[in-house]
Amino acid sequence: MKIPSKRMEQIPFSGIRVIFEKARKLEAKGRKIIHMEIGRPDFNTPEGIRKKAREALEDGFVHYTSNFGMDELREVIAGKLTRENNVPTEYDEVIITPGASMAIALAIFGLVDIGEEVLILSPRYPAYPKQVIMAGAVPVSVPLKFEDDFKLSIDDLEKRVTDKTKMLIINTPNNPTGTILGMEELEKIANFAKENDILVLADECYEKIIYGKEHISLASLPGMKERTITVNSTSKSFSMTGWRVGFISARKDIISNIVKVQQNLTICPTSFAQAGSIPAYTEGDGLIKDMIEELKKRKEIVTYYLDRASGVDYVKPEGALYVFPSIKKLGMTSADFCDYILEEAGVAVAAGNDFGDQGEGFVRIAYTCATDELEEGMNNFKEAVNKLN
Ligand SMILES: Cc1ncc(COP(=O)(O)O)c(C=O)c1O
Repeated sequence: MKIPSKRMEQIPFSGIRVIFEKARKLEAKGRKIIHMEIGRPDFNTPEGIRKKAREALEDGFVHYTSNFGMDELREVIAGKLTRENNVPTEYDEVIITPGASMAIALAIFGLVDIGEEVLILSPRYPAYPKQVIMAGAVPVSVPLKFEDDFKLSIDDLEKRVTDKTKMLIINTPNNPTGTILGMEELEKIANFAKENDILVLADECYEKIIYGKEHISLASLPGMKERTITVNSTSKSFSMTGWRVGFISARKDIISNIVKVQQNLTICPTSFAQAGSIPAYTEGDGLIKDMIEELKKRKEIVTYYLDRASGVDYVKPEGALYVFPSIKKLGMTSADFCDYILEEAGVAVAAGNDFGDQGEGFVRIAYTCATDELEEGMNNFKEAVNKLN
């Protein structure tokens, strides 16, 4: 009997989905579970975007688009990058993709050869190392340490460079830590990339979900546009996870290489979803002001209850949809703690080790459920933790 590919055998089933399945079994038995394990905003997509997609559908915009994506959307994204991100961009430096996940895959498959190494700041989004393995390359974790507030140490980065290092993946605001990379860290990354001749994939898909701080795009730093592959998406910022629309912006020669991967894997993102996304980049922040305010309130609810749960420490989140507390003082593994919280509090959270080895001893709380449920869930969480002390 043939077995699965050796590459896929190295890839475990998503830990977040394991807890989700356990929660569903409890729900089937009639138990109320509050879901804080899945990283997707629960808001509806803004009406302006839905209307534009409906019109495109009614107008018969239902066929393949260019492999690069729809020109009008590429134009407005180039305008947004130039205007908002200080990265002067032409429309042919942009390719539309089915979400950020596919954008990351296209960049890895298009740019990294078999056996080459990809540095990944970690804790990190679980798909990064898995996609690197699928492409036959080697993921190398660079730890972001809790005791340093998840700030990057340049020594940790430099120690891991070899002559096979091709790319570094960064993510700001970060899933799962909720922290952001400020100018000082981005400058260190830029100098490191230039000195070692490395490409940087900057995943900025939580760009708009940021509380009081400024999002800085790595590509806006001097000399970085030519070596940065910026990935972004409508999924989180505009609550459009099901639409599957994201983009890459990079040098023209990089885009014309990456488009061949898209051509052969998926042809193009869904036509009317692309058309619907245009207002996201022309009207932007105005469409999501209320959602961001609500998320900020929810973040404060989570930290309020964590402050009252003994033995739980966390780094103050500055963006994204998550808080990533350490449960190390409670003396349990992440997976055991998640099982305990599910049973005892009726709350599903994600085990930290899904986000890399550095995540063991942590859990990810996603404030992606309705605000009143969140309040109830966090109160139950606090009570359950305090029973352990
Ligand atoms: C850091 C990060 N990048 C990419 C993605 C994928 O987003 P998309 O829905 O745009 O594929 C996620 C989703 O959770 C994420 O957290």
